[in-house]
Amino acid sequence: MTSALQEYFDATIANEQRIEPRDWVPDGYRKTMVRQIAQHAHSEIIGMQPEGNWITRAPSLRRKAILLAKVQDEAGHGLYLYAAAETLGADRTELTENLIAGRQKYSSIFNYPTLTYADVGVIGWLVDGAAICNQVPLCRSSYGPYARAMIRICKEESFHQRQGYELLMTMMRGTQAQRDMVQEATNRWWWPALMMFGPPDADSTNTAQSMAWKIKRHTNDELRQRFVDMSVPQARALGVSLPDPQLRWNPEREHHDFGDIDWVEFKRVVSGHGPCNAERVAIRKAAHEEGAWVREAASAYAEKHAREEVMT
Ligand SMILES: [Fe+2]
Ligand SMILES: [Fe+2]
Repeated sequence: MTSALQEYFDATIANEQRIEPRDWVPDGYRKTMVRQIAQHAHSEIIGMQPEGNWITRAPSLRRKAILLAKVQDEAGHGLYLYAAAETLGADRTELTENLIAGRQKYSSIFNYPTLTYADVGVIGWLVDGAAICNQVPLCRSSYGPYARAMIRICKEESFHQRQGYELLMTMMRGTQAQRDMVQEATNRWWWPALMMFGPPDADSTNTAQSMAWKIKRHTNDELRQRFVDMSVPQARALGVSLPDPQLRWNPEREHHDFGDIDWVEFKRVVSGHGPCNAERVAIRKAAHEEGAWVREAASAYAEKHAREEVMT
């Protein structure tokens, strides 16, 4: 049945219009979109853990308030995204179960540990910075609810990036021990941050179809290059070096060249063998189980409310 419906869908995409929840979509589009949104939602929720670890140990009340706000924002991002997945017919409980059972992934960056307070700053600077590079083009994604969620999320991500950078600036003006801490954290996060853009274009199986559907607007390598070019002057202003001896400006390409990414490590972490995979999922599972009574109470309340409405 390629029919009027398929033609209407193709024309909507071709004319840069948005697909909305009640529109007919091909099965592949729905599946790809649910997978991408779910993976994104899971990343927001799991991403609360590495920094959440530092809330009780923040060095001042001001830093604690900033970090709390940031981690809460990530919870909010997860919630909008699960709601966007629901508009495609996905079931939120099922998505959470998929995450806990390891059937759906989240960004592999969150499988690395946060060893010092400088990690909070470096995550804001590099991890939220890479997320912004990935997500700004998604504000023009063809699926309306996802694109609209992304607009608000990107505004908050830019606050996250700035809070991280400001924290690092403060540490760089501090003692030598603090400066060393920032450098050491930068060394650990730089390469995993580059991996956040996914496998090289040549090995990326989903890219071509996602670009044709205008779910994705740029390839992994294009976005990675943009991130490298953006980060080099920021590192210079901060006074830290990036741990890549091959990193240099290429005047012919008008971009920075950089060294090879360790894709073996990437595959190991993505397939569940990073330093914190088991811990992240175990904590998420425990939180889900401990939250069962909240879900039950909310459902009971909703039912009671619905009954009352029928009676009045
Ligand atoms: Fe986020
Ligand atoms: Fe963020």
